[in-house]
Amino acid sequence: MREPLIDLKNITKSYDGQVILDDLSLSIHENEFVTLLGPSGCGKTTTLRIIGGFETPDMGQVMFHGQDITNMPPHKRNLNTVFQKYALFTHMNIAENIAFGLKIKGKSKAYIQDKIKYALKLVNLDGYEKRMPDSLSGGQQQRIAIARAIVNEPKVLLLDEPLGALDLKMRQDMQYELIRLKNELGITFIYVTHDQEEALTMSDTIVVMNQGYIQQMGTPEKIYNEPENAFVADFIGESNILDGTMIWDRLVEILGVRFDCVDTGFGTNRPVDVVIRPEDVILLDPERAQLKGIVTSVIFRGVHYEMSVEVGGFVWKVHSTTMFPEGTQVGIRVEPSNIQIMNKPESEDEEAVSRNGKK
Ligand SMILES: Nc1ncnc2c1ncn2[C@@H]1O[C@H](COP(=O)(O)OP(=O)(O)O)[C@@H](O)[C@H]1O
Ligand SMILES: [Mg+2]
Repeated sequence: MREPLIDLKNITKSYDGQVILDDLSLSIHENEFVTLLGPSGCGKTTTLRIIGGFETPDMGQVMFHGQDITNMPPHKRNLNTVFQKYALFTHMNIAENIAFGLKIKGKSKAYIQDKIKYALKLVNLDGYEKRMPDSLSGGQQQRIAIARAIVNEPKVLLLDEPLGALDLKMRQDMQYELIRLKNELGITFIYVTHDQEEALTMSDTIVVMNQGYIQQMGTPEKIYNEPENAFVADFIGESNILDGTMIWDRLVEILGVRFDCVDTGFGTNRPVDVVIRPEDVILLDPERAQLKGIVTSVIFRGVHYEMSVEVGGFVWKVHSTTMFPEGTQVGIRVEPSNIQIMNKPESEDEEAVSRNGKK
């Protein structure tokens, strides 16, 4: 295992007596695109500010290349931060905005000119030197903010919801732009977002957080396909989460019906959470299915139809390329391998951690 570039060790942080981060540990490797993902208020920005040096933890350490930087001020750290509000200086043109940090560092005119050209090219805004910030679109302004960070040649770029203020189309363009930048620059990105699609698109590693705890950490595929608990399953993509009873190995009962599944080791007659993705629900002739329900809504989503199917009080989310009109009686089938069994949270506290802050 490579030595991590950044190591957060047992970080605890409280505000006004309220614990925001509780014993949080996290390792980030060089050249990784790591995304902190979670609902609003879960502690993402606080974590990023601690890495950036804008906050000091109450307990724990921030290590950088094996060196303790917990108390090092931001400007001495080899990282740069781009915040959600681009905060360009409105009275300076684009070149002056980008040059600002370099001037403070006392870099030569020629060096600064070179850097400005290079950075503008990198964010696809060549020739924008003389423009004023308010003549640029939101997306362009955010790219300038990124260019301004890049010219400092940080080892790590910290980005706090940098696309949050942009509309959907521009956000998607910028996501590709950021992936390209990451590949070209070969630096480490630590990215904060509450948008799971954004996280799945861009990240090498996703850190799912809720209420100051890391719920799960892994590749986008791992997090999506093998969520470790109901909170992650629900937050990443859409899910049907049902109360179930594990009858014994490979047999689970939901809504009064027994289903074959592939999971073992949950004991016998144990309450469990059962997670089934909407795209894994198969609708068919009710005569051929164990569960029967009625379609209560249909929305066309371009690639598939999104349908709601009510079965004994539970509303299933179903994605299918075949449309069943509202009011139709349908049967539901799920392949055993698409039924995911999860332990229910053990204590009241854990229940709160995993159930609250759902999207
Ligand atoms: N400077 C502060 N003073 C008091 N409370 C704060 C401060 N910064 C953040 N908080 C609180 O800490 C919690 C986590 O905030 P934050 O890290 O910004 O969450 P996120 O970025 O995930 O939305 C929130 O409840 C927020 O109100
Ligand atoms: Mg935040």
